[in-house]
Amino acid sequence: MGLSQGTALEQAGDDLPRNPRRPLAGRWNVFRSRLLASDRFRVIAARFPPTRPIARRQARKLFDLCAGFVYSQILYSCVRLRLFHQLADGPRNIRELAKSIDLEEDEVARLASAAASLKLIEVDADGQCGLGPLGAIMLGSPGITAMVEHHAMLYEDLTDPIALLRGEKQTTRLGDYWPYVADNFPAQLDEAAVKDYSALMAASQQFIAEEVLAAYPVQKHRCLLDIGGGEGAFILAAAMKAPDLKFVLFDLPPVVGLARDRLAGHRLLDRVTLVSGDFFNDPLPVGADLITLVRVIHDHDEERALALLREIRQILPQDGTLLLAEPMSGTKRAQPAGAAYFGFYLLAMGSGRPRSIEELTDLLDRAGFLVDRVLRTRTPMLVRGIVARPKRSTI
Ligand SMILES: C[S@@+](CC[C@H](N)C(=O)[O-])C[C@H]1O[C@@H](n2cnc3c(N)ncnc32)[C@H](O)[C@@H]1O
Repeated sequence: MGLSQGTALEQAGDDLPRNPRRPLAGRWNVFRSRLLASDRFRVIAARFPPTRPIARRQARKLFDLCAGFVYSQILYSCVRLRLFHQLADGPRNIRELAKSIDLEEDEVARLASAAASLKLIEVDADGQCGLGPLGAIMLGSPGITAMVEHHAMLYEDLTDPIALLRGEKQTTRLGDYWPYVADNFPAQLDEAAVKDYSALMAASQQFIAEEVLAAYPVQKHRCLLDIGGGEGAFILAAAMKAPDLKFVLFDLPPVVGLARDRLAGHRLLDRVTLVSGDFFNDPLPVGADLITLVRVIHDHDEERALALLREIRQILPQDGTLLLAEPMSGTKRAQPAGAAYFGFYLLAMGSGRPRSIEELTDLLDRAGFLVDRVLRTRTPMLVRGIVARPKRSTI
């Protein structure tokens, strides 16, 4: 493995790679499973005061798992009906809301009570509705709103998850939405094919960039090459933070066209060189001392991910740095976000998977990199980072 000894990785505490193949304690697992499956045990556990809170917690967790899809649909309804925007200027009553969102009052009351139970809104005894803590966050986060809206495609694809797992679906809505994953000639895609996903990525990038830039000092570098840099939202955020840094953005031709418009709007074209091409088939631009891969590697299966990393290894100077940032699996206290959400999202998309720190470290090692450290981001559930350097011996 490519972990350098005595690096900051060892101080990363929670983020340290752990043995992903720790064996289950067989007998204990069988014993516990039999106990929990027994009606009699569950009744006793629910009655017995010391175990009652545990029994309730487990029941609640299981109920939430069963109901999760319904909760998501309630959030989706609020977003589609722009309910949070309706409440942006202060509380409104059910009758007013019914008029503005074109629903019967009874159904607004039903939605309001459901949304209130999920802390999206609040409803008082007189039927006045106001933003709840989660609704207020949604209102201030256009990126999350855009993600929720595009989830309609994910829900459609997941109506038959077994068919997805068996690889029986020829096409999926998300596969069409992210056309580069299945296209052998992605550089020939036109603007219509890339503009929706590029807008979604730009909308959701702000938060990611804040996390990554708070965890890694890009200003100590001379030139940053952002591979798969989309419309340039990450570069935009980095340019604010590091006024002397120069940039190169590499992406598919129509995406680079969108980046040009966005960066021109911020008068940044004099600091950013735009290069278009297919990173699996075209040469990558040389000269940067920092290369960033933000939410790129998880899109691709092993072979392609490795090929891209090897290509990057070829163009990165010996004293250069690779910064890989994306959501990862095996993140402490956020395991479902990586393995369940991103695992099944990428399954529906038809390519890639979320990888753990250990798996990425191994991939980087095989591509000729040495992991220098794991970044401590503020919200590891959404994005984590690995800083790597070229190994001395070239591959
Ligand atoms: C998931 S998006 C991430 C965009 C951006 N880094 C971000 O985090 O917002 C992946 C990006 O990689 C680009 N991409 C995918 N395949 C590519 C290829 N073969 N060559 C160049 N760019 C590619 C896509 O156009 C897209 O902008």
